[in-house]
Amino acid sequence: MSASDYSIPPDLARALRNARTVAALTGAGVSAESGVPTFRDAQTGLWAQFDPCELATPSAFARNPTLVWDWYAMRRALVRGVAPNAGHYALAALDDHVPECLVATQNVDGLHQQAGSRWVIELHGNITRVKCASCGRQALAWDDAGPQRPPRCAYCSGPLRPDVVWFEEMLPDDAVAAAERAVDTCDVLLVAGTSSEVYPAAELPRRALRSGARVVEINPLATPLSELAHDTLRGPSGVVLPALVAAAFPA
Ligand code: APR
Repeated sequence: MSASDYSIPPDLARALRNARTVAALTGAGVSAESGVPTFRDAQTGLWAQFDPCELATPSAFARNPTLVWDWYAMRRALVRGVAPNAGHYALAALDDHVPECLVATQNVDGLHQQAGSRWVIELHGNITRVKCASCGRQALAWDDAGPQRPPRCAYCSGPLRPDVVWFEEMLPDDAVAAAERAVDTCDVLLVAGTSSEVYPAAELPRRALRSGARVVEINPLATPLSELAHDTLRGPSGVVLPALVAAAFPA
């Protein structure tokens, strides 16, 4: 189905057109049509024997830093080869129509920024960035092909690691605070491509509901949020988001 065939309720299009502040919460589903493999999809070939939940933790890194570094190097290479899809571009287009627009994402692929969204909050970090596991400084450059895996921090010689939030770790305070402010004050919240099961991000739509925002879910499948949202738009975000933006802001 193409975006032009997807029907958007007229009152939702009107609500989006009249909104002064729009927030979006996105998850893995928004990048599915770009071909970004999810955690589990990435477990092919040599990596199939490893449980991703046991690679994405500080304790796994402490136990076997080379293994964890190599897994992320493989995933970083996959992410470098993908591009934003029509869903990312539709959200970016909202910046031109809505006075204040923010995207809070659980994705670590940087595709919202690549699509041109100007205000993006990365709740789980960014897989293309690398930081020091000891001093926390971001690495500006590192040698992926060098003999030392993980490479060492230029400041303190600590081991470098991906700048993502691992299981057992806290989300960055500033990112959570900015996302909470956005959902507390937005007129419309678009929740796209997330299972709405992983906390604390899954709490954000519930906060928006309590603050009186119109909450719109975009997902081909039902989630725990579906019964609470004002609108549930069933379908892939690469089709539904362009249809929604086109309905609210016809050319
Ligand atoms: N368009 C929209 N939604 C889609 C699409 C699509 N084309 N394809 C799949 N989905 C939906 C699925 O139906 C599912 O509800 O995207 C959701 C993806 O759910 P998860 O894989 O649980 O992703 P997410 O909600 O982002 O998970 C949060 O958990 O795995 C950890 O750290 C990881 O950031 C991730 C976090």
